[in-house]
Amino acid sequence: MADVHILGIESSCDETAAAVVRSGEKIVSNVVTSQIATHQPYGGVVPELASREHLKAIVPVVRQALADAGQSYQSVDAIAVTQGPGLAGSLLVGISYAKALAFALEKPLIAVNHLEGHIHAVLLEERQKGNRELNFPVLALVVSGGHTHLYLAEQRAESWTYENIGHTRDDAAGEAFDKVAKLLGLGYPGGPVIDKLAAHGNPEAVKFVISQIKHPDRNKIPTLSQKTRQGWGTPQERFDFSYSGIKTAVLRYVETHNMKAAIEERRKALSRIAKPKLEDYLAHIDNATLDLVASFQRAMVEDLVGKTLAAARAHDVATLFVTGGVAANNELRQTFEREAAMEGLPVYFPSRPLSTDNAAMIAAAAYPKFLAKDFAPMDFSAEAGMRLSG
Ligand code: KG4
Ligand code: ZN
Repeated sequence: MADVHILGIESSCDETAAAVVRSGEKIVSNVVTSQIATHQPYGGVVPELASREHLKAIVPVVRQALADAGQSYQSVDAIAVTQGPGLAGSLLVGISYAKALAFALEKPLIAVNHLEGHIHAVLLEERQKGNRELNFPVLALVVSGGHTHLYLAEQRAESWTYENIGHTRDDAAGEAFDKVAKLLGLGYPGGPVIDKLAAHGNPEAVKFVISQIKHPDRNKIPTLSQKTRQGWGTPQERFDFSYSGIKTAVLRYVETHNMKAAIEERRKALSRIAKPKLEDYLAHIDNATLDLVASFQRAMVEDLVGKTLAAARAHDVATLFVTGGVAANNELRQTFEREAAMEGLPVYFPSRPLSTDNAAMIAAAAYPKFLAKDFAPMDFSAEAGMRLSG
């Protein structure tokens, strides 16, 4: 089969991204512009500002991705775009532009689920490294600012099917990192800052207990072979997460340990620095806060790894994927690697640039759809709450 170049466009949250990927296995270009500076003063993504920034960035970002790839609007074979989940206004910017391009250029248009994109980030990079020997079933943890979801993923011929076996009941893991960082005056986004600062604190200092969701049917977990016989879609056990409690526990700790004044000072001091570096954070933080940050991260990591491995055992999976923004976290990666190795389970992560939002993963997820001629109609719309299934 001749090479297929797909132009991917991603605008679901606060990154405007475009990429060209060849035949689902080679990143030819990958451009991501972040809106962090716009949202930083508000301590989180402001949807109206996000749409406006996407509008400004989309044309130059796509142009750059084509130029970096040595491609033109005419030379690409298809245009893929994120349909959802995400912020409706942000999604619409990417979708409208992708539709206009597909219409004007008479190219096929492919709608991609953002979560499927995160899973394909792993597949894309493994193929790029020449690793085509993945064993199924795969269990994928998609852990980001908006999601903490567990999917069983299967490939049948060219097409992929997904079954959700767990998700967060409240805050996503990345959201908890962001909220805790905001509450400690560490700015936005919180994950990367906490990741770096945690290495300087004592993770055993504060004991956090993460809420466990009661699963009355946990003891009746069918094995994968039983499931295959029963067919997918029968009621299954869940492996759900809950992270709003730990955020409240950190808040309570801050209040009972009189940390508020120091937090305010830190917030002010850091807001005067355009792009604070690790040294700047360390200059404005005390040991008690470093211990708190390290203990928070340890509790999050233990819960994410523990639940994912429990799900992997229950479903007898052969391979583990960990993807999404939080998959960039150092302690999470190390802990997954150590614990999965003890169970003889191979675990794959995307590289750090492909863990967070990007369009290469969208173009990669579109490739099997291109082969299956699974094209989107011109009147498809954004789906802010889009689910990923079968
Ligand atoms: O996948 P992503 O770029 O966007 C969404 O789809 O949500 O994920 C962004 C999330 C943010 O919550 C951010 O704080 C978190 O990923 N994140 C991290 C790290 N890098 C990004 N969390 C923990 N450690 C990191 N190194
Ligand atoms: Zn994402």
